[in-house]
Formats: sequence, C-alpha cells, structure tokens
Amino acid sequence: MRKILFVDDEIRILDGFRRMVRSKRDEWDCSFAASADEAWTLIQEIRPDAIVSDLNMPGKSGIDLLGMVRGQEAFRFLPFLMLTGNNDLQQRVACLEAGASDFLNKPCDFVELYTRLTNAMALKSFQDQVREQNEILEIKVRERTLELERSRREVILRLAIAAEMRDSNTGAHILRVGLISRLLAEEMGYDSDFQENIFLASTMHDVGKIGISDTILMKPGALTPEERSEMQRHCELGAQLLRSKLTDIFKYFEEETNELNYNSLLELSAKIALTHHERWDGTGYPNGLAGDQIPIEGCIVSVADVYDALRSSRPYKSALSPEVAMAMMQKDSGAHFSVQVIQALVRRHAEVEAIIERHRAMDDEELPLAA
Ligand SMILES: [Fe+2]
Ligand SMILES: [Fe+2]
Repeated sequence: MRKILFVDDEIRILDGFRRMVRSKRDEWDCSFAASADEAWTLIQEIRPDAIVSDLNMPGKSGIDLLGMVRGQEAFRFLPFLMLTGNNDLQQRVACLEAGASDFLNKPCDFVELYTRLTNAMALKSFQDQVREQNEILEIKVRERTLELERSRREVILRLAIAAEMRDSNTGAHILRVGLISRLLAEEMGYDSDFQENIFLASTMHDVGKIGISDTILMKPGALTPEERSEMQRHCELGAQLLRSKLTDIFKYFEEETNELNYNSLLELSAKIALTHHERWDGTGYPNGLAGDQIPIEGCIVSVADVYDALRSSRPYKSALSPEVAMAMMQKDSGAHFSVQVIQALVRRHAEVEAIIERHRAMDDEELPLAA
C-alpha cells in the first residue's frame, strides 16, 4: 500500500482529492493536511511515499514545505508533486530548483493525477534500486581493493623472506627492521602513509642477496677484498630487481594491463635497497653518497638494520647489550648515521628494545621447510 499525502489550504480541493482517490482505496493509503505545518507533522509520523502539495498557501507555501522535506536526508528523493494554479513559467522554474518532482495543473483531473503519481513513485523505486546496487558495488570494490592490497603486501613479504632465507635467518630480522624503521619514521614526524610504506619497503633492503653466490654469502670466515666487493653488489642487484621497468617482461605486463600501480612502493624499496649501506660521511657503498644526498628512507633503514644486527647473535658473534649497542650507534652519529635518525633512536630506545624482545624468539627456530 502506497502512502500519499495531499496538502491544500482549500478544504474544497482536499475534498475533491478525497473523492478522486476513493476508487484507489486498496492501492493508496491517503492522508490530507490543510497547511504546510500540519503536513510536516504528518510527514514525520506516516513517512509518505509521495506528496501532492498546493503551491500558494497562507503561512508556509508549497515551496517552503518542499524545502523542509528536501532538507531531511530520508526525504531527499521523495516524490513531491506541486499543484500550480496557472502556467506561470517562473513559478515552475522556482519549484524545479527547489527540487519538485513534477507539476499538476489546477483544477486537476484524476487520470492525470494517477498517471503522474504512479510515474513519480515508479521512478523513485527505480532510483532506489540503482542506489542500492551502487552501494553494493561500492562495498564490493572496497573489498576487492583490500584483497588486492593484502595480496600485494603478501607478495612483497614473501619476496623479502625468500631473500632472507638464503642468509640462514628466519625472517625475524626483516620484521624487526621494518618495525623499527616505522617507529623511527613516526618519531621523525612522517605521516602514516610514509610509515606504512617504509615498514613494507624496508623488508626488502637485502633482497639483492638473492643474486650473491652461496660461497660468499655462507662463508664462515672473513671475506677477501674481492669477495667483499662482490657481496656489496647486493645493493645494486636489489635495486635492479625492484625497479620494474628493468626487464622486458615487466614492459609487456604494463602494456597488457596498464595497471601496474605497485610502482611507487617498489620504487621506494629499490631506493632503500640501493642506499641502506651509504654513510653520512660519504664512505659507504655503492655510490659513496654523503649527507642529504642519501634518501631519508635509506638513512632510517640503515640505523634500524645496524642496530638490530648489533643486538643479534650470529654464528661468529654474540649479541651486544642494549647499552653497548646504543653507545656504538651514538658514537657513529654524523659519521656513519644521520644525526636526526640517531636522535629519534635515542628517544624511542625503550620501544625499539620492546620490538627486539617481542620478535627475538623466532631467531632460534629454523624456518619450517617441507620435510
Ligand atoms: Fe644490506
Ligand atoms: Fe639487514
């Protein structure tokens, strides 16, 4: 049953409507109001499916009522038909601008009233359906985007772990480096996007080790100068691997999809892979960059990486205590490391230690490989 509200200050006209709609008793549930105020109270109460209102009424006019109706979110699309006494174009334009759905001429004949009301309500229910569909679509798009984001993160992490597995570690190191880098970025005042990106991108700082031979990577003793410079190639190898346009296969992927929008995160990862062994004083590798020439992301990851390495035990060394490790970092502030990043490390030392504590146990376990 459709609820229709008729509004007119002339009782004679309201009675006319009453008689007219009698034949539609089983289709329409009609209410009648003699003023805009009375109508407004009824609208809140019965929540009609359509309104037919006179334009010119003493006190509040039809346009005033229309304004009140459209001002309420729930009635933004409610069919509202305005009764106009003549064909005054200006009045009609004003009604349209105020959001009227349609017009009816006075005196109004039943067939016209019925047709226009039915059309307006059909249009409304069609619009409702479209809106509903759009909402469902929007939810689906949001879900898919999240899914895509999750699988993107997973691929990145798996790539980072794959490289880390060769280095006899469990992946706990890259997790800690990511967490510490994110914490330092927060302390340095970078926004949450930056923090999230550095968290993910830093996990790939050593991904280039995939390209270093086992004999060098696993060598128990000290490296010869040649072996060391081979080992140092992991920075450039990592950057090459992560810069998407490097190989033809990516060019083809891009041509086919037009949608390889992972580039910015991978580009950041490449930047970090390339610069995490640079030193503030210019004595690092691979490019001997100094000071501000080193991207801040590289500076942050360098501090997180070295601090975590100092605090970890390796087959050839035991872990340093927090105090000794921190003293070494501070001693190298402005030489190896950016002063600004070391200051952040000092201020957040307790939290950095909490991260190390929380993710230390994993180092004792082997990665579970297939039996
Ligand atoms: Fe490295
Ligand atoms: Fe590392």
